[in-house]
Amino acid sequence: MIDQRLISYIESIQPTRSDIYKKLEKIADDDKIPIIVPEAGYFLQLICTILKPKRILEIGTAIGYSTLWFYDNTEAIIDTIEIDSERKQQAENLFKRLNKNERINFYLGDAIEVLPTFIGEKAYDLVFIDAAKGQYHKYFDLIEKITDKGAIVITDNVFFHGMVPGIEEPSKRLKPIVDKIDGYNKMLHNNDNWVTSFFTIGDGLAVSIKLN
Ligand SMILES: C[S@@+](CC[C@H](N)C(=O)[O-])C[C@H]1O[C@@H](n2cnc3c(N)ncnc32)[C@H](O)[C@@H]1O
Repeated sequence: MIDQRLISYIESIQPTRSDIYKKLEKIADDDKIPIIVPEAGYFLQLICTILKPKRILEIGTAIGYSTLWFYDNTEAIIDTIEIDSERKQQAENLFKRLNKNERINFYLGDAIEVLPTFIGEKAYDLVFIDAAKGQYHKYFDLIEKITDKGAIVITDNVFFHGMVPGIEEPSKRLKPIVDKIDGYNKMLHNNDNWVTSFFTIGDGLAVSIKLN
């Protein structure tokens, strides 16, 4: 969706990241595991540096790439949820190997089932939604119950390969997901309890701040 020349230029001027990030990017590329683009990682770094969150919730761990951005740029306790046991194990092993596992909790399961168990138990000041695109609205309704005023929710893939704004035509199979993401974006736009800005970073990021 974004001109490749722009991405290459940004890549040439942004800070360098350590080899472990590049190694994970290669694994994700080789194994076709969708992870955030480095530009989104730098954006998460910026938000973390400004917000200084104490508790982070991530929905969609995959191999732990975005988790590593959160870990390295905060002192927060991080709870991360993944439905795929192999990926969850891969991410857990990575953090163990890096000796960075003392403030991360890995949860295995469907976020729709795991999140209700956090209600009344946990409160987050930063949440990252990056799992099943068709479930975003349901995740958000549950997140409402585990966040307070001032919390930030970052949602990935809000433009979904340009299909949500209509730049690309969705296939018949993807159309229902595209419609759901569009509905989610409109819900954020119309939600008086939150204020949301949309950014053309990677596949599209929405940043929502809780007002009350
Ligand atoms: C886009 S990937 C996450 C990438 C990761 N946040 C990163 O940028 O490094 C989405 C992940 O969400 C997981 N997932 C999909 N549906 C889920 C669900 N209902 N509950 C929890 N995880 C789910 C997938 O298995 C996949 O690994």
